[in-house]
Amino acid sequence: MDSVLEELTQLKQQINEHNYRYYVLDTPSIPDAEYDRLFQRLKSLEQQHPDLLTDDSPSQRVGAAPLSEFRQIKHKIPMLSLDNAFSDDELKAFERRIKDRLGSTEDLEYAAEPKLDGVAVSLFYEHGKLIYGATRGDGSTGEDITHNVRTIKSIPLSLRGGGFPNQLEVRGEIFMPRPVFDSLNEAAREAGEKLFVNPRNAASGSLRQLDPQITSKRNLVMNAYSFGYFAEGKMPQTHVSSLESLQEWGFAICKEVKRVKGIEACIDYYRALAERRFELDFDIDGIVFKVDHFAQQEQLGFVSRAPRWAIAYKFPAQEEITRLNAVDFQVGRTGAITPVARLEPVFVGGVTVSNATL
Ligand code: IVH
Repeated sequence: MDSVLEELTQLKQQINEHNYRYYVLDTPSIPDAEYDRLFQRLKSLEQQHPDLLTDDSPSQRVGAAPLSEFRQIKHKIPMLSLDNAFSDDELKAFERRIKDRLGSTEDLEYAAEPKLDGVAVSLFYEHGKLIYGATRGDGSTGEDITHNVRTIKSIPLSLRGGGFPNQLEVRGEIFMPRPVFDSLNEAAREAGEKLFVNPRNAASGSLRQLDPQITSKRNLVMNAYSFGYFAEGKMPQTHVSSLESLQEWGFAICKEVKRVKGIEACIDYYRALAERRFELDFDIDGIVFKVDHFAQQEQLGFVSRAPRWAIAYKFPAQEEITRLNAVDFQVGRTGAITPVARLEPVFVGGVTVSNATL
Protein backbone atom coordinates (compact mmCIF):
# COMPACT_ATOMS: atom_id res chain seq x y z
CA MET A 1 0.00 0.00 0.00
CA ASP A 2 2.79 2.41 0.89
CA SER A 3 4.36 2.00 -2.51
CA VAL A 4 1.01 2.72 -4.20
CA LEU A 5 0.66 5.88 -2.15
CA GLU A 6 4.19 6.82 -3.09
CA GLU A 7 3.58 6.23 -6.79
CA LEU A 8 0.31 8.19 -6.66
CA THR A 9 1.96 11.12 -4.91
CA GLN A 10 4.74 11.13 -7.46
CA LEU A 11 2.36 10.87 -10.42
CA LYS A 12 0.27 13.77 -9.15
CA GLN A 13 3.38 15.85 -8.65
CA GLN A 14 4.69 15.04 -12.13
CA ILE A 15 1.36 15.77 -13.81
CA ASN A 16 0.95 19.03 -11.91
CA GLU A 17 4.44 20.05 -12.94
CA HIS A 18 3.74 19.23 -16.60
CA ASN A 19 0.46 21.14 -16.44
CA TYR A 20 2.35 24.09 -14.99
CA ARG A 21 4.94 24.01 -17.75
CA TYR A 22 2.28 23.69 -20.40
CA TYR A 23 -0.45 26.06 -19.19
CA VAL A 24 1.50 28.62 -17.17
CA LEU A 25 5.02 28.78 -18.59
CA ASP A 26 4.13 27.78 -22.17
CA THR A 27 7.18 25.52 -22.30
CA PRO A 28 6.05 21.88 -22.30
CA SER A 29 8.87 19.45 -21.70
CA ILE A 30 7.32 16.09 -22.62
CA PRO A 31 5.32 14.90 -25.63
CA ASP A 32 1.53 14.67 -25.26
CA ALA A 33 1.64 10.88 -25.49
CA GLU A 34 3.89 10.67 -22.45
CA TYR A 35 1.62 13.02 -20.52
CA ASP A 36 -1.41 10.88 -21.47
CA ARG A 37 0.39 7.77 -20.24
CA LEU A 38 1.05 9.35 -16.82
CA PHE A 39 -2.56 10.51 -16.63
CA GLN A 40 -3.96 7.06 -17.50
CA ARG A 41 -1.72 5.46 -14.90
CA LEU A 42 -2.98 7.95 -12.28
CA LYS A 43 -6.61 7.25 -13.16
CA SER A 44 -6.20 3.50 -13.07
CA LEU A 45 -4.40 3.57 -9.69
CA GLU A 46 -7.13 5.80 -8.29
CA GLN A 47 -9.78 3.45 -9.59
CA GLN A 48 -8.10 0.51 -7.89
CA HIS A 49 -7.63 2.47 -4.64
CA PRO A 50 -10.58 4.87 -4.31
CA ASP A 51 -9.66 5.47 -0.66
CA LEU A 52 -6.51 7.24 -1.88
CA LEU A 53 -8.37 9.66 -4.13
CA THR A 54 -7.83 13.32 -3.14
CA ASP A 55 -9.85 16.35 -4.10
CA ASP A 56 -6.84 18.15 -5.56
CA SER A 57 -5.81 15.27 -7.83
CA PRO A 58 -5.40 16.44 -11.46
CA SER A 59 -7.92 13.72 -12.37
CA GLN A 60 -10.60 15.48 -10.32
CA ARG A 61 -10.94 18.68 -12.33
CA VAL A 62 -14.28 17.62 -13.78
CA GLY A 63 -15.33 15.52 -10.82
CA ALA A 64 -18.39 17.42 -9.71
CA ALA A 65 -21.94 16.49 -10.71
CA PRO A 66 -24.06 19.23 -12.32
CA LEU A 67 -25.50 21.79 -9.89
CA SER A 68 -29.14 22.78 -9.69
CA GLU A 69 -28.32 26.42 -8.89
CA PHE A 70 -25.45 28.78 -8.05
CA ARG A 71 -24.79 29.58 -4.39
CA GLN A 72 -23.89 33.12 -3.33
CA ILE A 73 -20.45 33.87 -1.92
CA LYS A 74 -19.44 36.98 -0.02
CA HIS A 75 -15.97 38.21 -1.03
CA LYS A 76 -13.54 38.62 1.85
CA ILE A 77 -12.51 41.95 0.33
CA PRO A 78 -14.81 43.74 -2.15
CA MET A 79 -13.97 43.46 -5.83
CA LEU A 80 -13.58 47.04 -6.97
CA SER A 81 -13.70 48.65 -10.36
CA LEU A 82 -11.25 50.97 -12.09
CA ASP A 83 -11.42 54.60 -13.10
CA ASN A 84 -11.06 55.15 -16.83
CA ALA A 85 -8.94 57.49 -18.94
CA PHE A 86 -9.64 58.06 -22.63
CA SER A 87 -6.78 60.37 -23.62
CA ASP A 88 -3.13 61.12 -22.86
CA ASP A 89 -4.29 64.25 -21.06
CA GLU A 90 -6.55 62.26 -18.75
CA LEU A 91 -3.69 59.86 -18.04
CA LYS A 92 -1.39 62.78 -17.23
CA ALA A 93 -4.05 64.22 -14.93
CA PHE A 94 -4.10 60.87 -13.11
CA GLU A 95 -0.34 61.08 -12.59
CA ARG A 96 -0.57 64.70 -11.36
CA ARG A 97 -3.25 63.74 -8.83
CA ILE A 98 -1.23 60.91 -7.35
CA LYS A 99 2.07 62.79 -7.34
CA ASP A 100 0.35 65.65 -5.47
CA ARG A 101 -1.08 63.23 -2.91
CA LEU A 102 2.25 61.48 -2.43
CA GLY A 103 4.09 64.80 -2.38
CA SER A 104 6.45 63.35 -4.95
CA THR A 105 8.30 65.15 -7.73
CA GLU A 106 10.10 62.04 -8.97
CA ASP A 107 8.81 59.71 -11.68
CA LEU A 108 6.78 56.88 -10.15
CA GLU A 109 7.03 53.22 -11.03
CA TYR A 110 3.96 51.60 -12.54
CA ALA A 111 2.92 48.12 -13.52
CA ALA A 112 1.53 48.28 -17.06
CA GLU A 113 -0.76 45.44 -18.00
CA PRO A 114 -3.39 44.69 -20.64
CA LYS A 115 -7.00 45.14 -19.55
CA LEU A 116 -8.22 41.65 -20.34
CA ASP A 117 -11.72 41.51 -21.74
CA GLY A 118 -13.18 38.53 -19.93
CA VAL A 119 -14.91 37.71 -16.67
CA ALA A 120 -13.49 38.80 -13.31
CA VAL A 121 -13.04 36.00 -10.78
CA SER A 122 -11.92 35.64 -7.18
CA LEU A 123 -10.36 32.38 -5.97
CA PHE A 124 -9.93 31.57 -2.31
CA TYR A 125 -7.11 29.26 -1.09
CA GLU A 126 -6.64 28.02 2.45
CA HIS A 127 -3.37 26.30 3.37
CA GLY A 128 -2.66 26.16 -0.36
CA LYS A 129 -5.89 24.36 -1.34
CA LEU A 130 -8.48 25.85 -3.63
CA ILE A 131 -11.63 26.26 -1.51
CA TYR A 132 -13.89 28.21 -3.86
CA GLY A 133 -14.09 30.43 -6.93
CA ALA A 134 -16.64 33.20 -7.31
CA THR A 135 -17.74 35.72 -9.91
CA ARG A 136 -17.54 39.44 -9.16
CA GLY A 137 -21.31 39.84 -8.87
CA ASP A 138 -22.12 43.25 -7.38
CA GLY A 139 -18.56 43.55 -6.02
CA SER A 140 -19.45 42.37 -2.48
CA THR A 141 -21.23 39.11 -3.28
CA GLY A 142 -20.76 36.87 -6.30
CA GLU A 143 -21.84 33.46 -7.52
CA ASP A 144 -20.11 30.27 -6.51
CA ILE A 145 -18.49 28.85 -9.67
CA THR A 146 -16.03 26.51 -7.94
CA HIS A 147 -17.16 23.47 -9.97
CA ASN A 148 -16.37 25.35 -13.18
CA VAL A 149 -13.12 27.08 -12.22
CA ARG A 150 -11.72 23.69 -11.19
CA THR A 151 -11.86 22.64 -14.86
CA ILE A 152 -9.52 25.48 -15.92
CA LYS A 153 -5.98 24.15 -16.23
CA SER A 154 -4.25 27.48 -15.56
CA ILE A 155 -5.92 27.52 -12.11
CA PRO A 156 -4.01 25.40 -9.58
CA LEU A 157 -6.12 23.11 -7.37
CA SER A 158 -3.32 23.34 -4.85
CA LEU A 159 -0.59 25.95 -4.83
CA ARG A 160 2.93 25.02 -5.92
CA GLY A 161 6.03 25.36 -3.78
CA GLY A 162 5.96 27.29 -0.54
CA GLY A 163 5.97 30.82 0.78
CA PHE A 164 2.27 31.40 0.17
CA PRO A 165 0.04 32.79 2.95
CA ASN A 166 -2.36 30.54 4.86
CA GLN A 167 -5.32 32.39 3.44
CA LEU A 168 -5.21 33.91 0.01
CA GLU A 169 -7.71 35.40 -2.38
CA VAL A 170 -6.43 35.57 -5.95
CA ARG A 171 -8.09 37.92 -8.39
CA GLY A 172 -7.94 37.63 -12.13
CA GLU A 173 -9.72 37.45 -15.43
CA ILE A 174 -11.05 34.30 -17.09
CA PHE A 175 -11.20 34.57 -20.87
CA MET A 176 -11.57 32.50 -23.99
CA PRO A 177 -8.56 32.77 -26.32
CA ARG A 178 -9.58 33.93 -29.80
CA PRO A 179 -8.55 30.71 -31.59
CA VAL A 180 -10.73 28.72 -29.14
CA PHE A 181 -13.62 31.12 -29.74
CA ASP A 182 -13.25 30.82 -33.52
CA SER A 183 -13.34 27.03 -33.48
CA LEU A 184 -16.24 26.97 -30.99
CA ASN A 185 -18.28 29.20 -33.29
CA GLU A 186 -17.20 27.22 -36.36
CA ALA A 187 -18.51 24.03 -34.73
CA ALA A 188 -21.73 25.81 -33.69
CA ARG A 189 -22.22 27.08 -37.25
CA GLU A 190 -21.78 23.57 -38.66
CA ALA A 191 -24.26 22.19 -36.13
CA GLY A 192 -26.72 24.98 -36.97
CA GLU A 193 -26.54 26.26 -33.37
CA LYS A 194 -26.59 29.81 -32.06
CA LEU A 195 -23.23 31.61 -32.34
CA PHE A 196 -21.53 33.53 -29.53
CA VAL A 197 -21.23 37.27 -30.11
CA ASN A 198 -17.66 37.63 -28.86
CA PRO A 199 -15.07 35.81 -26.70
CA ARG A 200 -16.20 37.63 -23.55
CA ASN A 201 -19.79 36.44 -23.90
CA ALA A 202 -18.54 32.96 -24.70
CA ALA A 203 -16.37 32.93 -21.55
CA SER A 204 -19.19 34.24 -19.42
CA GLY A 205 -21.68 31.73 -20.87
CA SER A 206 -19.20 28.91 -20.30
CA LEU A 207 -18.75 29.88 -16.64
CA ARG A 208 -22.50 30.11 -16.05
CA GLN A 209 -22.99 26.42 -16.85
CA LEU A 210 -24.40 24.23 -14.12
CA ASP A 211 -22.58 21.24 -15.62
CA PRO A 212 -18.77 21.43 -15.35
CA GLN A 213 -18.41 18.92 -18.21
CA ILE A 214 -19.48 21.68 -20.58
CA THR A 215 -17.15 24.30 -19.09
CA SER A 216 -14.27 21.88 -19.23
CA LYS A 217 -14.62 21.57 -23.02
CA ARG A 218 -14.46 25.34 -23.53
CA ASN A 219 -10.69 25.65 -22.90
CA LEU A 220 -10.91 28.81 -20.83
CA VAL A 221 -7.80 30.51 -19.47
CA MET A 222 -7.29 32.53 -16.32
CA ASN A 223 -4.65 35.22 -15.87
CA ALA A 224 -4.14 36.33 -12.27
CA TYR A 225 -3.76 40.09 -11.80
CA SER A 226 -3.78 40.71 -8.04
CA PHE A 227 -4.24 39.52 -4.49
CA GLY A 228 -7.52 40.08 -2.70
CA TYR A 229 -7.45 38.94 0.93
CA PHE A 230 -3.95 37.96 2.13
CA ALA A 231 -3.49 36.64 5.67
CA GLU A 232 -0.76 34.95 7.68
CA GLY A 233 2.05 35.26 5.20
CA LYS A 234 4.80 37.54 3.97
CA MET A 235 3.42 40.14 1.61
CA PRO A 236 5.63 41.19 -1.34
CA GLN A 237 6.46 44.90 -1.55
CA THR A 238 5.43 45.61 -5.11
CA HIS A 239 2.64 44.64 -7.45
CA VAL A 240 4.99 43.19 -10.08
CA SER A 241 6.73 41.02 -7.49
CA SER A 242 3.31 39.84 -6.27
CA LEU A 243 2.59 38.67 -9.82
CA GLU A 244 5.94 36.86 -9.85
CA SER A 245 4.94 35.10 -6.62
CA LEU A 246 1.56 34.19 -8.09
CA GLN A 247 3.31 32.66 -11.08
CA GLU A 248 5.57 30.60 -8.80
CA TRP A 249 2.51 29.39 -6.91
CA GLY A 250 1.00 28.11 -10.15
CA PHE A 251 -0.98 30.91 -11.80
CA ALA A 252 -0.71 32.07 -15.37
CA ILE A 253 0.20 35.75 -15.60
CA CYS A 254 -0.25 37.84 -18.73
CA LYS A 255 3.09 37.83 -20.57
CA GLU A 256 2.71 41.49 -21.54
CA VAL A 257 2.95 42.82 -17.96
CA LYS A 258 5.84 45.25 -17.61
CA ARG A 259 7.20 47.60 -14.97
CA VAL A 260 7.61 51.11 -16.39
CA LYS A 261 8.85 54.39 -14.93
CA GLY A 262 7.08 57.69 -15.46
CA ILE A 263 3.91 58.56 -17.34
CA GLU A 264 5.67 59.02 -20.71
CA ALA A 265 6.77 55.37 -20.55
CA CYS A 266 3.15 54.44 -19.79
CA ILE A 267 2.02 56.27 -22.92
CA ASP A 268 4.71 54.49 -24.99
CA TYR A 269 3.53 51.14 -23.63
CA TYR A 270 -0.09 52.02 -24.45
CA ARG A 271 0.77 53.02 -28.04
CA ALA A 272 2.91 49.93 -28.66
CA LEU A 273 0.23 47.55 -27.41
CA ALA A 274 -2.58 49.39 -29.20
CA GLU A 275 -0.69 48.64 -32.43
CA ARG A 276 -0.26 44.96 -31.63
CA ARG A 277 -3.71 44.59 -30.10
CA PHE A 278 -5.19 42.48 -32.87
CA GLU A 279 -2.11 40.23 -33.11
CA LEU A 280 -2.67 38.98 -29.55
CA ASP A 281 -4.70 35.81 -29.25
CA PHE A 282 -6.94 37.32 -26.55
CA ASP A 283 -9.16 40.41 -26.49
CA ILE A 284 -8.09 43.48 -24.54
CA ASP A 285 -9.94 46.76 -24.28
CA GLY A 286 -7.26 48.99 -22.80
CA ILE A 287 -4.23 49.14 -20.55
CA VAL A 288 -4.30 49.16 -16.76
CA PHE A 289 -1.61 51.19 -14.99
CA LYS A 290 -1.06 50.48 -11.30
CA VAL A 291 1.33 52.24 -8.94
CA ASP A 292 3.83 49.45 -8.35
CA HIS A 293 4.84 49.99 -4.71
CA PHE A 294 2.29 48.71 -2.20
CA ALA A 295 3.43 51.34 0.33
CA GLN A 296 2.45 54.06 -2.15
CA GLN A 297 -0.81 52.27 -2.97
CA GLU A 298 -1.65 52.28 0.70
CA GLN A 299 -0.89 55.98 1.00
CA LEU A 300 -3.16 56.72 -1.96
CA GLY A 301 -6.10 54.57 -0.86
CA PHE A 302 -9.50 54.45 -2.51
CA VAL A 303 -12.24 56.78 -3.57
CA SER A 304 -15.78 55.35 -3.65
CA ARG A 305 -15.49 51.98 -5.45
CA ALA A 306 -12.11 52.43 -7.19
CA PRO A 307 -8.47 52.68 -6.11
CA ARG A 308 -6.72 56.03 -6.55
CA TRP A 309 -3.52 54.17 -7.45
CA ALA A 310 -4.75 52.58 -10.69
CA ILE A 311 -6.40 53.60 -13.93
CA ALA A 312 -7.63 51.89 -17.07
CA TYR A 313 -6.59 53.75 -20.24
CA LYS A 314 -9.22 52.48 -22.66
CA PHE A 315 -8.74 51.87 -26.37
CA PRO A 316 -11.21 53.57 -28.71
CA ALA A 317 -14.49 51.60 -28.72
CA GLN A 318 -14.94 48.77 -31.21
CA GLU A 319 -18.69 48.72 -30.73
CA GLU A 320 -21.11 51.62 -30.97
CA ILE A 321 -24.85 52.02 -31.23
CA THR A 322 -26.36 53.81 -34.22
CA ARG A 323 -29.63 54.07 -36.16
CA LEU A 324 -30.49 51.67 -38.98
CA ASN A 325 -31.86 53.93 -41.73
CA ALA A 326 -32.58 51.29 -44.40
CA VAL A 327 -31.67 47.86 -45.68
CA ASP A 328 -30.79 47.51 -49.39
CA PHE A 329 -30.38 44.25 -51.27
CA GLN A 330 -27.34 44.08 -53.52
CA VAL A 331 -27.27 41.54 -56.32
CA GLY A 332 -23.79 40.17 -56.91
CA ARG A 333 -22.21 38.96 -60.19
CA THR A 334 -23.30 35.40 -59.49
CA GLY A 335 -26.82 36.45 -58.57
CA ALA A 336 -26.20 36.10 -54.83
CA ILE A 337 -28.18 38.65 -52.83
CA THR A 338 -26.50 40.48 -49.97
CA PRO A 339 -28.48 42.65 -47.58
CA VAL A 340 -26.66 45.90 -46.75
CA ALA A 341 -27.49 48.09 -43.77
CA ARG A 342 -27.51 51.85 -44.40
CA LEU A 343 -26.50 53.37 -41.07
CA GLU A 344 -26.49 56.78 -39.49
CA PRO A 345 -22.70 57.41 -39.76
CA VAL A 346 -20.96 56.43 -36.54
CA PHE A 347 -17.30 56.72 -35.48
CA VAL A 348 -16.07 53.35 -34.26
CA GLY A 349 -12.66 51.65 -34.09
CA GLY A 350 -11.00 54.72 -35.58
CA VAL A 351 -13.17 54.95 -38.75
CA THR A 352 -16.62 56.30 -39.70
CA VAL A 353 -19.01 53.52 -40.65
CA SER A 354 -22.15 54.18 -42.70
CA ASN A 355 -22.75 50.82 -44.47
CA ALA A 356 -22.49 47.25 -43.21
CA THR A 357 -23.16 43.96 -44.97
CA LEU A 358 -25.51 41.84 -42.93
S1 IVH B 1 -7.22 45.38 -11.48
C1 IVH B 1 -8.74 47.35 -7.76
N1 IVH B 1 -6.12 44.47 -13.68
O1 IVH B 1 -11.35 45.33 -15.31
C2 IVH B 1 -8.34 46.98 -9.12
N2 IVH B 1 -8.49 44.60 -13.60
O2 IVH B 1 -12.98 47.71 -13.62
C3 IVH B 1 -9.07 45.82 -9.61
N3 IVH B 1 -9.61 43.77 -15.61
O3 IVH B 1 -13.86 43.74 -14.17
C4 IVH B 1 -8.88 45.45 -10.99
N4 IVH B 1 -7.80 43.24 -16.72
O4 IVH B 1 -11.82 42.17 -13.99
C5 IVH B 1 -7.27 44.77 -13.06
N5 IVH B 1 -5.01 43.67 -15.55
C6 IVH B 1 -6.15 43.96 -14.93
C7 IVH B 1 -7.41 43.75 -15.53
C8 IVH B 1 -8.56 44.10 -14.82
C9 IVH B 1 -9.12 43.26 -16.75
C10 IVH B 1 -11.05 43.97 -15.32
C11 IVH B 1 -11.50 43.52 -13.97
C12 IVH B 1 -12.71 44.35 -13.68
C13 IVH B 1 -12.45 45.59 -14.47
C14 IVH B 1 -12.07 46.73 -13.53
